[in-house]
Amino acid sequence: MINASENTHGSTPHQHHDAATRGYYDTGDVDAFYDAVWGGEDIHIGIYAKDDEPIADASHRTVERAADKAADLLGPHATVLDLGSGYGGSSRALAARFGCHVVALDLSEEHNRRHRAANARRGLDGLIEVTTGSLNDLPYEDERFDVAWSLEVLCHVADREGALREAVRVLKPGGALVFSDIMAAEEAPAEAVRPAFSRLGVETPATPTFYLERLCELGLDALDFEDRTPDIATHYARLDEEVHRRAAELRNVISPAYVDELLANLPLWADIAGRGLLRWGVFHARRPAA
Ligand SMILES: C[S@@+](CC[C@H](N)C(=O)[O-])C[C@H]1O[C@@H](n2cnc3c(N)ncnc32)[C@H](O)[C@@H]1O
Repeated sequence: MINASENTHGSTPHQHHDAATRGYYDTGDVDAFYDAVWGGEDIHIGIYAKDDEPIADASHRTVERAADKAADLLGPHATVLDLGSGYGGSSRALAARFGCHVVALDLSEEHNRRHRAANARRGLDGLIEVTTGSLNDLPYEDERFDVAWSLEVLCHVADREGALREAVRVLKPGGALVFSDIMAAEEAPAEAVRPAFSRLGVETPATPTFYLERLCELGLDALDFEDRTPDIATHYARLDEEVHRRAAELRNVISPAYVDELLANLPLWADIAGRGLLRWGVFHARRPAA
């Protein structure tokens, strides 16, 4: 019997959406773009010390700044859940800096394969376990993790509230939730931002208020949003400039049609970011101690 929440192929709406996201990331072109332009380690917005800084350096700074927020909970005794871990840049940085254990979860088999290989090359595979799965259905028992961490993943998720509920469920009392996301400004007209976000497979982006309200409803304490919105404009301007400057070279590793798509799409992101229609920053909240 097909459940009312299942489609005719027997998958739930979450599973259907997850399959589309997996399809996006497992495409060779998308992977090659993230590898060549972002640096193959992190795939998130950077925090820039200067406007012309390498994207990979700024992206690594984001990990360090986000990690500072939960540093008091991290050490060899602690376990972090890295939600939507991508190539594993965060997982490795956390394991190397704190000696903590990391459980990394991502939908994309291709990202997980690259993630495991990089962990082994760096001698961090003993500290990091990489699993295939979805934010909306975490295969972990309640109250297992000291820190739940997620950089630039919720922008892909249709049920963000459900994903946050799952993240809080698996946090220990006193544990920290740290995440960043690409959001729309509260006052941004939907039609101005939709063309950019539709490429990520979502209808509507979140806003900072949406997250702060959900975190409050989930009973979290010490809510904090470090608003770094100017960095998202710098980041997309850097990506746009990099792809235009390296277009000929990129056509050797990415299909020319995809490079053309990037050349058309990135200015769209750079434009809405430059016009103040996007928001970006790092959220930090704590589950109340028992
Ligand atoms: C922009 S990348 C960010 C990767 C990583 N967090 C980082 O900062 O480098 C988004 C990642 O989220 C994963 N993802 C998207 N939706 C997901 C979901 N529902 N469950 C698990 N992973 C998801 C994608 O496969 C991709 O690896």
